[in-house]
Amino acid sequence: MPGFDPTMLGPAVVARLREALSTASYTVAGVSQRLGEAAHGALLRNATPAALRATTGGDPLDTMTRLFALQVPVPRRAVDRALPGLLGPLVTGGVLETAGEEVRASIDVRPYGDETHDWWVVSDLTPGLDGSKARIAADHVLGVSPASTSLAQLTVRDPVGSALDLGTGCGVQALHLRQHAARVVATDVNARALAMAALTASLNGVAYDLRAGSLYEPVNGEAYDLITSNPPFVVGPPVPEPLIYRDSGLPGDEVVRRIVTGAPAQLRSGGWCQVLANWAHHADEPWQERVAGWVEPTGCDAWVLQRETADLPTYVEMWLADAGLLGAPGYHSRYDVWMSWFEQQGIEAVGFGWLCLHNAGREAAVVRIEDWPYDIEQPLWPHIADWARRADLLTRLSDQELLETCLRRRPHVVQETRGEPGAADPELIVLRQQAGVRRARRVDTVEAALVGACDGDLGVGQVLDALATLLERDTAELRTRYVPVVRDLVAEGWLDE
Ligand SMILES: C[S@@+](CC[C@H](N)C(=O)[O-])C[C@H]1O[C@@H](n2cnc3c(N)ncnc32)[C@H](O)[C@@H]1O
Repeated sequence: MPGFDPTMLGPAVVARLREALSTASYTVAGVSQRLGEAAHGALLRNATPAALRATTGGDPLDTMTRLFALQVPVPRRAVDRALPGLLGPLVTGGVLETAGEEVRASIDVRPYGDETHDWWVVSDLTPGLDGSKARIAADHVLGVSPASTSLAQLTVRDPVGSALDLGTGCGVQALHLRQHAARVVATDVNARALAMAALTASLNGVAYDLRAGSLYEPVNGEAYDLITSNPPFVVGPPVPEPLIYRDSGLPGDEVVRRIVTGAPAQLRSGGWCQVLANWAHHADEPWQERVAGWVEPTGCDAWVLQRETADLPTYVEMWLADAGLLGAPGYHSRYDVWMSWFEQQGIEAVGFGWLCLHNAGREAAVVRIEDWPYDIEQPLWPHIADWARRADLLTRLSDQELLETCLRRRPHVVQETRGEPGAADPELIVLRQQAGVRRARRVDTVEAALVGACDGDLGVGQVLDALATLLERDTAELRTRYVPVVRDLVAEGWLDE
């Protein structure tokens, strides 16, 4: 929308807007309480009727919810009550527009928050409410999406000196980063996104250094403790009208490769780069090898989790629908072009997942690439940070040192057994983590007993020796056989120091 210009708003207007939003309880809790669980859930699916029914009272909270989230015109007098003295400046800044006695929102101002903050995030209005077919502008700025929140929950939140949000959009990642990074740089190629991120920042009383430019170009020569990116990762053919928020303009999954391979030059020692991504599954190359080809040359430790795999029709349908093109003229030909391009490229499916790189500064990097489509516990970041610490521990310890280390079973580990009722030994023993990635691991009797006995009192070697005696096995054989297993148990988070 050409009219949006936050520089017209000035600090005093922004402060009064914040005050009005807060006074009206236009917050995540306030709106969800006003709508009720079902209507709020419907709104998250872009269905507005239930929320409209719940906001007929005309108080400031109803007015703001109807204006921004539900995108309906509201009477001017209601806006005067909800946003006293702000209508004129907000029209000048391109936040609201008037038609006679009615006022509409031109952009979205949406409640958002973490455990301790009520925030507001500025973006373009959500397209496709109630299935409407409006075309999305090329420079559309996306609001907070499920992808944004999963990246926010993955991002390692240790206090750091500097953080980079590559492709900031509405500024949501930068907002989180500002809570634990002394300095935040947020970049984007879309000037409109930078303007929205600027208003998101000022509305929440924080500052980020906003810079225009592609990928690492605006931060060339600088190093960061933390880089986060939810980039435009859609894998597809060049399109005549790319949407900047999702179409990088680079072939296939090249944008992700560039972000990953460019990370080491921008990361301080000990720094993290965490990226949401799509990657192509090529017929002639397992996806793990493709992604390993990106992360291994970085020299960083890397943990890659593939969370979903989409077959090609599902993928194309999803992204054409995202662009508002489902059922639009040319839908079938766009679909054909996309599918033919996949065929030419030898792409069979597309993976979606998370790449976490840690610049551990070691000679030998630890790379873990896995398909993990199962339920996990969010926020995952404490477990990601723990994974990096345990990777360090394992690379530091020789096998002999590992055997001398007193390990502990992690608290969220439980055991399940299956077998004939009354049988002396179970047929199957499975360990399960009830936190983090919630792994399950089939184990033998020794492994189960080992994990059970590791309470931090005895060295692993002593525990194995005791088990050898108990099970009438050879002590040396058990040590040799189970050292790699212990390494695995530590790497996967069953045992820790
Ligand atoms: C999917 S949106 C993510 C927005 C936001 N960071 C979030 O997590 O919701 C991707 C963002 O990357 C920006 N972008 C696209 N191409 C880019 C490039 N080459 N360099 C930097 N940013 C880019 C888009 O304008 C858009 O704001």
